[in-house]
Amino acid sequence: MDKLIIHGQNALHGELEISGAKNAALPILIASLLTEDTLLLTHVPHLQDVNTTKSLLTYMGVDIQFENDSTQLTAKKIINKNVPYERVKTMRASILVLGPLLARFGEAQVSLPGGCAIGSRPVDIHIKGLQAMSAKIDIHNGYIEASTKHLPKSKLQGCKFYMDIVTVTGTENLMMAASLAEGITVLENAAKEPEVVDLGKCLNKMGAKIKGLGTDVITIEGVDSLHKASHDIIFDRIEAGTYLAATAMTGGEVLLKNVQFKYLDAIIQKLTETGVKIESHKNSIRIRSDGKLKAVSIRTAPYPAFPTDMQAQMMALNTIAEGISEITETIFENRFMHVQELTRMGAEIDIRGNTAIIKGKEYLEGASVMATDLRASASLVIASLAARGQTTIERIYHLDRGYEKLEDKLNQLGADIKRIH
Ligand code: EPU
Repeated sequence: MDKLIIHGQNALHGELEISGAKNAALPILIASLLTEDTLLLTHVPHLQDVNTTKSLLTYMGVDIQFENDSTQLTAKKIINKNVPYERVKTMRASILVLGPLLARFGEAQVSLPGGCAIGSRPVDIHIKGLQAMSAKIDIHNGYIEASTKHLPKSKLQGCKFYMDIVTVTGTENLMMAASLAEGITVLENAAKEPEVVDLGKCLNKMGAKIKGLGTDVITIEGVDSLHKASHDIIFDRIEAGTYLAATAMTGGEVLLKNVQFKYLDAIIQKLTETGVKIESHKNSIRIRSDGKLKAVSIRTAPYPAFPTDMQAQMMALNTIAEGISEITETIFENRFMHVQELTRMGAEIDIRGNTAIIKGKEYLEGASVMATDLRASASLVIASLAARGQTTIERIYHLDRGYEKLEDKLNQLGADIKRIH
């Protein structure tokens, strides 16, 4: 297993191109299942989760071609409408094939994902939404068996559905399913994340009729079929936020390219409170930091509030900021696994329920630590960049799932990171 060896305390300087968003790319790749025509995508990031999605789609019969940095997906003939546990276990986003398969082919068997490192993460809202659209759903031997064969023309029926909890992939699954349903579907309390909007924009280019994207009521008028389209994946706001937090901690000056300020509002507001200077330009952001930070308290919540996917990185930042901060995680019940590892590096963190209380210290010290999930790993990397001495991070396969060329990008800015195979 690969590990990273990081020597800390190099200030970061230079320019960096932010990649396409993982959490937009995954549903959009899967949206190719909704049409027999070709979907052409650009800015698909090179990530392990993207490879896993492509391998799932290939297994199902989708033809995938690469040309000049673009990915072409054609789902003319689907041979497998059954997604086994091994594939959903590897990547929970695989549950997103359920809506498209059911809407286009009238049947699907997808394994229930089960829990994961950051929480129990049920998919009950995905299932209830499809049931509200009149699908017949049985759970047998850990599989969701869904069918519309009993419905007129085997088509899902549009409906009004209120989602009890704001769910990103739940909204995406139902939005894709409703695109090919009979009649109008109204999703209430829908997710407003930019990645959900990006999927909706791509579906509209494919001929879907979706309104209300970016609001909590999304209306989808079903159409008979979708067609070919091309789409450029939105930038990864969490990747951008991670590099902003890293620069804030190490000090330095970095220009991030291929980013839009408006999608980073909550993150930039909190970073600005720490004392760093951030300037926005048309498609870029510049950050300047002298490494002297003030502690900031944070509460995670669905977009446009502060994203849970940046919680661990801001925790790392607070460990060396002046003052005491509180970080409350409201989305996932077990997303504090980085705390133990940061403590190994000298951080002072006390957990009370879903709140972590962090007492900022002058510096962290290098140590041997273990990556536990994607964003926890990112927090350990940025903590190591600011720490005194050498840090070894084990189990970094989590990082490869969601950060494109992480160590190359950081080394390009002056960091000292080596990957040991
Ligand atoms: N939930 C339910 N029932 C459901 C669906 C969700 O109770 O049917 C709960 C979850 O357990 C959680 C909350 O609702 O407590 C929100 O979960 P959500 O469904 O929004 O999460 P997700 O769609 O599974 C996506 C991202 C995550 C990100 C969350 C929250 C993708 C592929 N994943 O997950 O990304 O943390 O939204 O913004 O889009 C990451 O990139 O590191 C990551 C974990």
